[in-house]
Amino acid sequence: MPGSKGWKHVDLPRLERGYQLVTTGLGLADTFGRKFKYLRLSVTEVCNFRCVYCLPDGFAAQTCGSAAPGLLRSNEIQNLVEGFARLGVTKVRLTGGEPTVRADILEVAKAVKSVTGINTLALTTNGYRLKTLAGPLKDAGVDQLNISVDSLTRQGFHSITGMDRLDEVLAGVRAAQSAGFESIKINVVLMKDRNDQEIGDYLRWAKSEKLSIRFIELMQTHSAAGIFEEARLSLEPLRLRLVDLGFKPKTKALTEGPAQEYVHPEYVGSVGLISPYQQGFCDGCNRLRVSSTGALRLCLFGDETQSASLRDLIQSPSQQSELLHRVNTLLKLKPEAHGLHQGRLGNIQNLSQIGG
Ligand code: GTP
Ligand code: 5AD
Ligand code: SF4
Repeated sequence: MPGSKGWKHVDLPRLERGYQLVTTGLGLADTFGRKFKYLRLSVTEVCNFRCVYCLPDGFAAQTCGSAAPGLLRSNEIQNLVEGFARLGVTKVRLTGGEPTVRADILEVAKAVKSVTGINTLALTTNGYRLKTLAGPLKDAGVDQLNISVDSLTRQGFHSITGMDRLDEVLAGVRAAQSAGFESIKINVVLMKDRNDQEIGDYLRWAKSEKLSIRFIELMQTHSAAGIFEEARLSLEPLRLRLVDLGFKPKTKALTEGPAQEYVHPEYVGSVGLISPYQQGFCDGCNRLRVSSTGALRLCLFGDETQSASLRDLIQSPSQQSELLHRVNTLLKLKPEAHGLHQGRLGNIQNLSQIGG
């Protein structure tokens, strides 16, 4: 059976006997009262960049050159998303790897957006194809784009991502602006001596353009242990700097991600901080993840007990009630918080495997 990896770890029949369905008018909720309106769907593990904190030796080195077999097809994706929409999900993010390496990414986007109840479709990308794809993605129904730009200097960008492509990526950002996306966010993983000297340049960008610049605290993963030791920075000094400059925290909508956004009357754009090591970070968790081969993943840094395949139940729309039942049952296993502070990094090697 395709995508059955991970089943053996979860005693599903026992769980299904032991728990009642929790589908209510309010949608999916876990045992800690958190609601899940946001699904992050990885469409491929493949990426063509070699970010120092993610795939420092490139995708081929990680997998000996072969991509994960059996990516979900767009009809399976549609069945999956229909099930989650029935459970109250209203926002889907397509992620990767790099989602735009998938030749049928526009078809996938259209399939997701066609689902009743999905009113926001977002996509996270390294931007390498955006110059030509921004317009078609918008036409396919994508509303929001998150684009990684880890340095604003050509040399810095090359050394962090392994690719000398800053100009193309910036052209992609401009193409996205011209295409009229309702939200464009720029992701910057902040690293000591690699890009922290550029904070002022990023703030100037946010001052003049309608973008959210999001600084992300580097997270420890198995494949990037060295860079974590060497370059990790707390975002607290930056937060204090923002407050000092007159920025004010903004309140969040239910489907917004983990960033705390800051706004300033003299800035057209905004600044977001993502601080996964901060006390209480997981209290606001509102997302579930599905891998590119159809496994539900309850926590980014969970182990194999936090993941189980849904693929056998997304082959036909007629399987929906079983799918809903399985998702609800599995949700009971979602942990209260990640174990990064205790050094529990989970069973993914890096974020390209499930999409950050
Ligand atoms: P939006 O608010 O929808 O823009 O979502 P987002 O900020 O989650 O989207 P994006 O894909 O740009 O995520 C940015 C980064 O935040 C990710 O790559 C991760 O580094 C981090 N992140 C997102 N979700 C989680 C999470 O659930 N746990 C942890 N630890 N980090 C996360
Ligand atoms: N720590 C923090 N952010 C990471 N990303 C990938 N790996 C890490 C990590 N170890 C972020 C990228 C990109 C998003 C998809 O994931 O910067 O913005
Ligand atoms: Fe690719 Fe994104 Fe990982 Fe960079 S962070 S290597 S762009 S998946």
